[in-house]
Amino acid sequence: MEQDRLDTNPVFGRRKLKFGTFQTNLDSGCVMSGLDGRLEITWPNTVALAKLADDMEFEAIVPVARWRGFGGAHNPQGPGFEAYTWAAGISASTARSGVVSTSHVSLNHPIIAAKQCSVIDHISNGRFTLNVVCGWNGPEMEMFDVPLTGHEDRYARAEEWLAIVRRLWTEDADFDHDGRFYRIKKGYLQPKPIQKPYPAIMNAGSSERGRHFAAKNCDLVYTVLRTHDFDACAAHVAAYHRLAREEYGRTVRVWTLATVVQGETEREARRFYDYYVHEKGDWVAAGNVVAAMAAEINERNYPAERARAMAEMFVSGWGGHPLIGTKEQIVDGLARLSRMGIDGVLLSWPRFEAGMREFRDMTLPLVKQAGLRDQY
Ligand SMILES: Cc1cc2nc3c(=O)[nH]c(=O)nc-3n(C[C@H](O)[C@H](O)[C@H](O)COP(=O)(O)O)c2cc1C
Repeated sequence: MEQDRLDTNPVFGRRKLKFGTFQTNLDSGCVMSGLDGRLEITWPNTVALAKLADDMEFEAIVPVARWRGFGGAHNPQGPGFEAYTWAAGISASTARSGVVSTSHVSLNHPIIAAKQCSVIDHISNGRFTLNVVCGWNGPEMEMFDVPLTGHEDRYARAEEWLAIVRRLWTEDADFDHDGRFYRIKKGYLQPKPIQKPYPAIMNAGSSERGRHFAAKNCDLVYTVLRTHDFDACAAHVAAYHRLAREEYGRTVRVWTLATVVQGETEREARRFYDYYVHEKGDWVAAGNVVAAMAAEINERNYPAERARAMAEMFVSGWGGHPLIGTKEQIVDGLARLSRMGIDGVLLSWPRFEAGMREFRDMTLPLVKQAGLRDQY
């Protein structure tokens, strides 16, 4: 039953540029817009997207752990499926893609989380990845009456939480744990996950503390590319590898997010972007995201211009690097990400299902021709 995770989990595969989908468990997907054809969250709809990913051999299907939406006209990300139960169902509905679940450290007890991960790893036959998140969104944490502590404490708890999860996944004898955040008596977990030594772990922290946590503990680190400048992005990716190697003696794979806005012509793609972002965008909801981030993430205070640019990123694709243009331009954009050192990219489309079908039929053949899906 036990298998080397390099053989079972596609996130460890050898394709030059790996693909995934992002946030297909939540209403509206990655956009904040009144756009027709955006993801309406029903079980058949989320499974349809997972099956498209599976058919295209995408390496990862990544949900988001979200507990309430962002208000505005459409309350994007309000209705949605809980990440573990969703990942269990998605694992049973797919055969090839890697499947991710996301755990808020302070909301999921490590014994329950370790067990849920093990179940999903069995259902998926070793395709599971755990995304460890510490939370940043004040209003959803308030709903639980769980304080969003400072970064040091948040990530200190995550270190201890993950150490317990790893022990449960790997140690056969019962163990006691007496730590700063958790006390466990005779910790026990069977069956162990399929993946050996244990399932893949990812994190997307962007603070300095978060980056260290990811470089020290995770197999996949996710980063949002905040500029189009090639050298700056390549240096940003290289910095993750250097941090992991030099401080922790580890290798990590760096993934990012991109939003695909494709048209017959570049002009048409740009017109579509204007339509769903500037005409139909839910700027109130996006403003609420920026406000939550300003309040909670590093207590940064954004200048108005930066806040506006951030809001546009959230409206257009939840921070995804925008790839706008013809299918050839989309492929060029993906090739550029690969040249920056990106190992994998989570894709989203404003009209998720129509966009994925178009990608499968028109764009993916060119992606393959460009060698981006070759094995290295
Ligand atoms: C790909 C990706 C997935 C994420 N998934 C979640 C999630 O499901 N739930 C959540 O609360 N935060 C999620 N985040 C936010 C990060 O976990 C993290 O809190 C954020 O990037 C801020 O970094 P910091 O914690 O170092 O301040 C995600 C971020 C990215 C880029």
